[in-house]
Amino acid sequence: MSQYYQYDVLIIGSGAAGLTTALTLPKHVRIAVLSKGDLSSGSTFWAQGGVAGVLDDTDTVESHVQDTLIAGAGLCRADAVRFTVENSRSAIDWLIEQGVPFTLNDDSTEDTSHFNYHLTREGGHSHRRIIHAADATGAAIFTTLLERARQRSNIDLIEQQVAIDLITAHKLGRQGNQCLGAYVLNRESGEVDTYAARFVVLATGGAAKVYLYTSNPDSACGDGIAMAWRAGCSVGNLEFNQFHPTCLYHPQAKNFLITEALRGEGAHLKLPNGERFMARFDERLELAPRDIVARAIDHEMKRLGIDCVYLDISHKPAEFIQEHFPTVYERCLTFGIDITQHPIPVVPAAHYTCGGVVVDQHGRTDIANLYAIGETSFTGLHGANRMASNSLLECFVYARSAAADISQQVAHVELPDQLPHWDASLVTDSDEDVIIAHNWDELRRFMWDYVGIVRTNKRLLRAQHRVRLLLDEIDEFYSNYRVSRDLIELRNLALVADLIIRSAMLRKESRGLHYTLDYPELAQLAEDTILRPASVDD
Ligand code: FUM
Repeated sequence: MSQYYQYDVLIIGSGAAGLTTALTLPKHVRIAVLSKGDLSSGSTFWAQGGVAGVLDDTDTVESHVQDTLIAGAGLCRADAVRFTVENSRSAIDWLIEQGVPFTLNDDSTEDTSHFNYHLTREGGHSHRRIIHAADATGAAIFTTLLERARQRSNIDLIEQQVAIDLITAHKLGRQGNQCLGAYVLNRESGEVDTYAARFVVLATGGAAKVYLYTSNPDSACGDGIAMAWRAGCSVGNLEFNQFHPTCLYHPQAKNFLITEALRGEGAHLKLPNGERFMARFDERLELAPRDIVARAIDHEMKRLGIDCVYLDISHKPAEFIQEHFPTVYERCLTFGIDITQHPIPVVPAAHYTCGGVVVDQHGRTDIANLYAIGETSFTGLHGANRMASNSLLECFVYARSAAADISQQVAHVELPDQLPHWDASLVTDSDEDVIIAHNWDELRRFMWDYVGIVRTNKRLLRAQHRVRLLLDEIDEFYSNYRVSRDLIELRNLALVADLIIRSAMLRKESRGLHYTLDYPELAQLAEDTILRPASVDD
């Protein structure tokens, strides 16, 4: 039997953005936080690096703003950058208040009454400004926020719930186009439940799973972006997909990131013969922004026909490595690589979706009562290339801003009138799930080959042709068969892939993360790529 739920705020996604929104809303507001797998299945848990912020007396807001603008290659929205950076200290103070165990300076005591945390460096940052919990910052933040959320009786944390689509007034033929809730597949009962809510917040992360090789967990399917688009929201700058330069290259290591903080602490990138090569690409060497480092590695791999390059930190003392990078050290050891002695084989992999659902400074989308935050959103902070550790910062700053905005309105927005239940009367059980598995593989492979680190017009056209065929097949499947998690995710990924390709085709220049051999130069005018749904029924 399908269920009908009512909440003040429905938050889809249980990572840093979703939990922060829930925790900063007032305690009288009834909140549901949905996770499509276990609560920890999102990307936050896997973040190694940290949270960037102006935390040191020698650092300034101006410097962090400038570094972000430079990395963003002329495409950051200056107001979004300033807003984020100016709020960095208060967001990080809030995390400390929640009890996140950030790494202290070596000479510090447990007394944290003075700001005495260890700050590391990452690419593009001209100062040490990344607060972190060794090399498992995401896990430390997630665990702390989850524990806090569990203590709050107004927050229901609900696992195994896969959101299918948003319910809007427009879709129901009612007046206006506010968001009214969502249809959600309950993986335990197999039923599609209806969630009615005064406000809906999309905090579902990015879409890096659209690529064959990614540092992200399986959940990163662009769900929020796809749902928002189908509901009628604009999306921005989806052609900017960040490839992290250093993921572990090993046949058994699925999605394992080697944090950029290793380079921040002096690790060298090397070819198989031991030669350092970054000097040929950028004077900032290993600490150049990610797009430059990833392209340099891609170039060397193609030039030499090699499967990987190497990241070497073995010249640092073993105790330093083990203390600062315990996660990387342990994980590499399980594959027989002692990073205190040997270089680490690494390759670039899809890591972060810089574009997303267009939002304002409060995370408000084009649709009333619908918010998007974190990697799902496009705030304008990252421009054409995100600077390391600015993304967690963006989650906290915008989640707090969205929560403040919702708090002001929640008493004045009515709960939606009875919403219709999901209609499954015309569908049956699928007898050919192989189509779903095949389409998943095909999509991710051609996105990697044709829409990856280096693009051309021809490759994009090929990809567009293929994705359109897949979209038709998926549509037909979706109309005839009962929904499953795999089908919902595939439907979302294929749609986001199409939006990525369309955005990439519109950009007739190379800028930041978008590099095309057909237009290798930077255009004079820096413009966002904003796509608007032709109609909300797309
Ligand atoms: O390399 C890293 O630890 C990743 C950081 C980030 O993507 O912000």
